[in-house]
Amino acid sequence: MTNLNIVILAAGIGKRMQSSLPKVLHALAGKPLLGHVLDAAKTLSPKKICVVYGHGGEMVQKVINDNEIIWVKQEVQLGTGHALLQALPYLDAEGVTLVLLGDVPLIKVDTLDRLIAKATENSFVLLTAELDVPFGYGRIIRNQATGAIQAIVEEKDASNSQLAIREINTGIMVLPNSHLHNFLPRLQNKNSQSEYYLTDIVAMAVEAGLMVDAAHPVHNWEILGVNSKAHLAKLERINQSECANNLLEQGVMIMDPSRIDVRGQLICGRNVEIDVNCIFEGTVQLGDDVKIGAHCILRNVSVSSGTTIFPYSLLESAEIGKGCHVGPYSRIRPGTRLYDEAHIGNFVEVKNSNIGMGSKANHLSYIGDAVIGTKVNIGAGTITCNYDGAFKHQTIIEDDVFVGSDTQLVAPVRVARGSTIGAGSTITRDTPEEQLTLSRSRQVSISSWKRPKKDKA
Ligand code: UD1
Ligand code: MG
Repeated sequence: MTNLNIVILAAGIGKRMQSSLPKVLHALAGKPLLGHVLDAAKTLSPKKICVVYGHGGEMVQKVINDNEIIWVKQEVQLGTGHALLQALPYLDAEGVTLVLLGDVPLIKVDTLDRLIAKATENSFVLLTAELDVPFGYGRIIRNQATGAIQAIVEEKDASNSQLAIREINTGIMVLPNSHLHNFLPRLQNKNSQSEYYLTDIVAMAVEAGLMVDAAHPVHNWEILGVNSKAHLAKLERINQSECANNLLEQGVMIMDPSRIDVRGQLICGRNVEIDVNCIFEGTVQLGDDVKIGAHCILRNVSVSSGTTIFPYSLLESAEIGKGCHVGPYSRIRPGTRLYDEAHIGNFVEVKNSNIGMGSKANHLSYIGDAVIGTKVNIGAGTITCNYDGAFKHQTIIEDDVFVGSDTQLVAPVRVARGSTIGAGSTITRDTPEEQLTLSRSRQVSISSWKRPKKDKA
């Protein structure tokens, strides 16, 4: 089909979400519902995409922030037919229009391809599904003798025998533009909800002698809509389980596919293992043989091959080299780069710092705005004092430095190559190479000293 237009209906109020956020902006896998629908739409390379918005529309435009979209306002929500009518002036005279729903986010391109494959300038193609429980959907009325589709009847207008029909209207359909221009303005609202039903266009097409065909989704869960937080939570789990299964198929060992959340893109090499309850956000890349321990959160991080992230670690906007150890209980903040074989241990926070090859900070430290060379050992409890209350300053630690435990490095300061810093030092000036530098008063013992005691009553 050469001329494809897409209209996404997204003006509904979403009352049952019980939220001030417009429904289509609620997040599924970290992305607004509408964003998922737009991604699917764009994969089809349409000539144009219109989004019909209403409630909270300005906020929707701002969040989605996409200047390829034609935004069409539906001032009052008078029904799906009225919604599509608002977009009619923007649709081409020829070709077809795919109607998508902004609150049906799991729809997949394979399913839409099936639908579009059947579209012609003279046929209406509906995406329909057979459901065990058709409750809440419009029903597909077929001619009992020929099986041809005749109409869609909304649940609220259906007779008891029609309610028993299990083939439902998903709301997603492909309609020929030339006929839309003719039929849409003629829709009426003489029904139980006094709405302009887009679905009435089917009976109109049948009456005009046009062909009405149906295609079915690859998976029935693709057509589920979000009307409440409970629906949203259900779709989130469906989506996550799909994602986990895809990763397992690619050879990633997910210890429990029901306990992983991917909110973005997770790209894995070979032999990757992910223990339970990990969350991946933004774009996360894991190289070959990477192991992620239980309860880790990684956000926009790349981890090179052979590295292990031990449990309960939080990493954000960082680049982790090969063969590194991180955690348990490490916090790696934005702007951090660990070179190969670096070790960051428990209760160590690293921010905006480079940790050179083979260097280690294994226990209880804060390293901020630091450049650390190769084979450096940072003793337990070491802190870079990078902030003077107004400005941030840099700490430079050159290769082969040994920093004793409980050291404060008051930035800006440079610890030169091969320096050793005695434990418990407060270093305020640059140190010379290859020497022991320490700042502490000499240890004394006072023989006459008596420990204070409470008087006995
Ligand atoms: C609609 C279909 C029904 C189908 C169901 C699938 C009609 C008349 N009925 O019913 O056959 O089984 O979807 O979920 O089409 N919208 C607007 N403006 C409006 C009304 C709705 O933009 O004035 C948008 C909504 O934001 C939503 C979509 O259209 O994305 C569907 O609207 P909704 O009210 O959920 O329709 P249903 O009654 O569920
Ligand atoms: Mg609905």
